[in-house]
Amino acid sequence: MNINVRSIPLRRASADVVVCFVLQDRTALHAAAKQFPGTLGIRVRRVIELGDFRGKHDEASIFYPEKSLPFGRLVLVGLGEQKKLRTETLRRAGAIAAKKAHAMKARSLVFFLPHLSLRADEIAEALVEGATLGLYRYDKYRTKSEEDNTSRVDTLTVVTDQPRNVRAVARSTERANIVCEATILARDMGNAPANDLSPEALATLAQESGERAGYSVTVLKEAEIKELGMGGVLAVAQGSSRPPRFLVLEYGDTATRPVVLVGKGVCFDSGGISIKSAAGMAEMKMDMSGAAAVIGTFEAVSRLKLPVHMVGLIPAVENMPGGNATKPGDIVRHYNGKTSEVDNTDAEGRLILADALGYAEKFRPAAVIDLATLTGAVVVALGHHATGMLGNDRGLITRLKQAGEQTYERVWELPLFDEYEQLIRSDVADVKNVGGRWAGAITGAWFLKKFIGKYKWVHLDIAGTAIVEESTAYIPKGASGVGVRLLTEFLRRWR
Ligand code: BES
Ligand code: MN
Ligand code: ZN
Repeated sequence: MNINVRSIPLRRASADVVVCFVLQDRTALHAAAKQFPGTLGIRVRRVIELGDFRGKHDEASIFYPEKSLPFGRLVLVGLGEQKKLRTETLRRAGAIAAKKAHAMKARSLVFFLPHLSLRADEIAEALVEGATLGLYRYDKYRTKSEEDNTSRVDTLTVVTDQPRNVRAVARSTERANIVCEATILARDMGNAPANDLSPEALATLAQESGERAGYSVTVLKEAEIKELGMGGVLAVAQGSSRPPRFLVLEYGDTATRPVVLVGKGVCFDSGGISIKSAAGMAEMKMDMSGAAAVIGTFEAVSRLKLPVHMVGLIPAVENMPGGNATKPGDIVRHYNGKTSEVDNTDAEGRLILADALGYAEKFRPAAVIDLATLTGAVVVALGHHATGMLGNDRGLITRLKQAGEQTYERVWELPLFDEYEQLIRSDVADVKNVGGRWAGAITGAWFLKKFIGKYKWVHLDIAGTAIVEESTAYIPKGASGVGVRLLTEFLRRWR
């Protein structure tokens, strides 16, 4: 999306659609009506007087101005009550406006910035995020009709009536655009069908992103993975005809200790020999959403040139029930020498992450954050509106919680009490990869905790938030790209 920022009066705004955002409040509504010239103003006032547009949140109303004005349509979008207004209200409103414009086949769009209790640059950032993310569709594999190709909103002009705000708004909307493009990259990876997104293809996408954005990507192949002793990665991959990859991403100032991001990269999770049932199995093409979040975050942070040092670790595999597949009862030796008993081959994410978390130690991390679509249990606990968070450091947990509130990619802490550890005791190995029926998200995290080094660590279980069953204002059904905005915000405030 092309994004411009200008300071011009409303009557000179030229676009297919001009959008004004209005609070649900008498003075705001009347002030809104007053700013429109001629008969347009009269009609807007009438609609407001009749109560046909009240400024409720998510409400939208379309007007057609006289031909002498340089815009084809005016859309009023409600923001609801002032006291309930949050940045999230604005993301939603931006998405609703953009989708209305798209439905009218508009290509150029003007957002007229409202006067609210928030700063203009914050308002603009949230509106642009909502619009960009709300317009996203995964349609790469559709053979496009003529119509689809020409009817895309491609230019968004943010207009402020305060010339002194232009610079700050230009900066915040540029940042929003970069972070949204990175989120969309993560969504595209999540939505990609597994026949076209093998571990090897995932590695190629990471390399392309690295070249584009300015970070390095090293791809370890099967022989090197073997050499390093990453038995978990090998055990999961061996049931598939497609070989594993282990990706090491690096960005920034290598003189400081890095934040290490670890992402689960299961390109397809059939369950392996402990095979999943058919219903819903197709969703498991998104089981590499943790990896996508890490790559998306690297893309955003590098393009924003944030002053941080980051290392990304991505074990990429396919979990398939081939003739050579790992069997229940098999025992695996991981990178750090510890062994695990594979009681259920469908608990594969933790097996590959165990190697990556052990490997992280060699970078002397200031903090390690892993993201994984790890358990169905976290979806039972939190649904699709919060990511499960478990970790060993209060400061890190607090910072992630704050970043979650800022971005509305909310996280919710679950306990890692010592008592849960016994659920994953094994009779034959150091640990067992499943913990029975209860507290599945916690036993999953406890398994990972067995493999971490002496560092601050947080595990984010994104099984419910990465894979969305029903569209919301700016997250269409499918892969959400969750984690990119969260971690970018977290890293922006890291120092
Ligand atoms: N990838 C799944 C978890 C998942 C489930 C992600 C639903 C998104 C939506 C993971 O590998 C898995 O299969 N977990 C098992 C663990 C169990 C065998 C201990 C699960 O949650 O059932
Ligand atoms: Mn699984
Ligand atoms: Zn999985």
